[in-house]
Amino acid sequence: MRMIDQTALPTKLTYVTYARPEQVADAIRTMVVRGAPAIGVAAAMGIALAAVRSKAHRLPDFMNELEASAALLRRTRPTAVNLFWGIGRVMKKAASASTVREAKEAISAEVKHMEEEDVKVNRRLAKSGADLIHDGDTVLTQCNAGALATIGYGTALGVVRAAVEQGKLVKVLVPETRPALQGARLTAFELVRDRIACTLITDTAVGHMMSLGRVDLVIVGADRITKDGYVFNKIGTYQEAVLAKRHGLPFYSAAPRSTFDLARTHDEVTIEERGVEEVVQIRGKRIAPKGVPVANPAFDMTPPELVTAMITERGLVKPPYSKNISRLIS
Ligand code: MRU
Repeated sequence: MRMIDQTALPTKLTYVTYARPEQVADAIRTMVVRGAPAIGVAAAMGIALAAVRSKAHRLPDFMNELEASAALLRRTRPTAVNLFWGIGRVMKKAASASTVREAKEAISAEVKHMEEEDVKVNRRLAKSGADLIHDGDTVLTQCNAGALATIGYGTALGVVRAAVEQGKLVKVLVPETRPALQGARLTAFELVRDRIACTLITDTAVGHMMSLGRVDLVIVGADRITKDGYVFNKIGTYQEAVLAKRHGLPFYSAAPRSTFDLARTHDEVTIEERGVEEVVQIRGKRIAPKGVPVANPAFDMTPPELVTAMITERGLVKPPYSKNISRLIS
C-alpha cells in the first residue's frame, strides 16, 4: 500500500509504503493519512494487507485474524464514521465468502472498487454543488477536504474544482486550521498546485473577513453527519457556521453517503481529543509554558439550524434534516 505522507507536506512530497495493518493503523493515528474518506479507504486497505499476509487455511481462523486487525484499526480515530464504514465494507465481503481464497479475492476486489468509487462519488457530489458557487465568489472552507483527504478530487474542494471547471472565477479563503495546520499545509498546497486563487488567513480572522464582505459562502467537509442533521467536522467549523449566520451567508457541508451516520444522533458521537503536544508546539517548536493545562478537541459539531444545505452525490439535502437525510441517503 502506497500513499502520500501528509505530515511532510508542503515541504516534501514523499510517499510511504506499508505491508502490515499495524503500520496503516499508526499512519491513521499520526495523520500520515487523514481526512474522512481517505482514512475509510486506508483502513479497508489495512484489512486487505492482513488478508494477503494471512497463512490461515481455515476460514474461522482467517476471520479471527481479520477481526483482530479490524479492532486495531477501529481504535485509531473515533470521529470520522468513514473509518468504520470502510472496515465494515471489507469485513462484510470476507464474511460472505466460503473459503479463505474466495475471501482474499473478494477483499482485494472490494478495496479496488472503493478506490475507484471514491473519485466518481466526489465528482458527482461536486457537480451537484457547483451551481451554489457564482462567478466571482469567494468560498471560505476549513481544514482540508480536498484531493488529499480523499482518493482524489475532494469533497468541499471538489465543489470548488467543479465550479472552476465550469469557467467560473472562484477564490478560496483558507483558514490555517490550528493545531495540525491542514489548511496552511494541505489546502494551500493543493490550491496553489492547481492554480486556484486562494488566500491563507489565521483561524481568528474569519469573522473579520466576513464583516468586510470578503466571503460569499462557506463550504466545509464532514467527518460524520448524524441522522438528526448535526455536522461533525474539524475544530473551527462551528464558529464559521455561527459567524455565517450572523453575516447572512450560506453555510454548506459537502460529504458523500459514507459520511452519514444513520444509526446515531449527535449525542452518541465521540469527539476525538488529541495529544497536548499539538497545541503547545508548532511544528515541533514549543510555544507555551511547561505544565499549562491543555484541551485539544479535534472536531466540533454544527447544529442543523446553522446548515443551509448538505451537498451529496445524490443532490442537495435541505431542512428539515431529520426527515430529509434518511429520505435521500438511505
Ligand atoms: O483531522 P483530520 O485532518 O482528519 O480532519 C479532516 C476534516 O475535518 C475534513 O474536513 C473531513 O474529514 C472531510 S475530508 C473530505
